[in-house]
Amino acid sequence: MMQYTDMHDRYLLRLISKKIFLYTEMIATGSLIYGKCLDQLDFNKEEHPVGIQLGGSDINDLVECSKMSEQRGYDEINLNVGCPSDRVQKGKFGACLMLEPNLVGDCLKNMQDAVNIPVSIKCRLGIDENISYEFLYNFISIVKESGINIFIIHARNGILSGLSPRQNRNVPPLKYDYVYKLKEDFPELEIIINGGIKSLEESKTHLKKVDGVMIGRAAYDNPFMLKDIESNFYNIDSCTESKKEILNKYLEYVEMQLKNGHNLSKMMKHLFGLSRGDKYAKTFRIKIIEIMKNNSLKGHKEDLEKLLVY
Ligand SMILES: Cc1cc2nc3c(=O)[nH]c(=O)nc-3n(C[C@H](O)[C@H](O)[C@H](O)COP(=O)(O)O)c2cc1C
Repeated sequence: MMQYTDMHDRYLLRLISKKIFLYTEMIATGSLIYGKCLDQLDFNKEEHPVGIQLGGSDINDLVECSKMSEQRGYDEINLNVGCPSDRVQKGKFGACLMLEPNLVGDCLKNMQDAVNIPVSIKCRLGIDENISYEFLYNFISIVKESGINIFIIHARNGILSGLSPRQNRNVPPLKYDYVYKLKEDFPELEIIINGGIKSLEESKTHLKKVDGVMIGRAAYDNPFMLKDIESNFYNIDSCTESKKEILNKYLEYVEMQLKNGHNLSKMMKHLFGLSRGDKYAKTFRIKIIEIMKNNSLKGHKEDLEKLLVY
């Protein structure tokens, strides 16, 4: 999630669940190729399995970035066909590509031909007035000819004018039944549902109909919600560590990354959600803000630990 998640957040999430599949935020091909912002490709080896999400629609650029991503060691490459922001539309990528299924299919085919790791897509149900199931069915029918097999579907339409990206994540109604129907119509595809899913219980209900669940905001706001993934879905023991233990491991990581020149605030902000639901959650968050303002962890680690309930 752009401006939210990064390699540090993914490190924190991986401390809580060993099995979840993590994705980067969308990285525009232009910023890698022409902006030379190659540090956006950085990740920790502990993050595996981790996919990179690319934003773009120029086939050559997508192929080049796919190769770079594979070389860096990513486990999957995902193409963003769901972001509705103005900036992204001007660059002719994101959700507006839902009107160009042939181009999307060509991009994905060329990307998949260029690498040996899976290529996937994340898209919406449709855009603007294209709200019928037939629109989605037609889009997927064309795109699947690229040979890719993993489809992540944000179960809402995107509205390209009149709604902000934030409104686009809340206002268009969720239509989970469209995604369930896709799985019925294309049983050979791996269909992953996304949008508004807040708990492992809800995930279980979806998994009766589709192959996977993607959780965005709920996992960012309350990372500890992921702690029972293994016992619930993989029949193995879940994370047994307490929030305090997770905190201490993450702070060890923060101290190590400070020496590598990473920014303290950017790493600390991911801890806001760790105290979610706890008695001293607000004080914990205030303490983090204080640490960010002082730009120093010194002397605060124990205070933070005490503010977590367990
Ligand atoms: C701040 C923010 C940034 C986001 N950035 C991305 C992004 O880079 N790529 C993407 O595919 N989706 C992005 N999303 C959308 C989420 O991945 C997800 O599709 C959407 O929030 C609905 O799922 P959720 O209800 O589980 O959050 C972003 C969402 C938020 C809140």
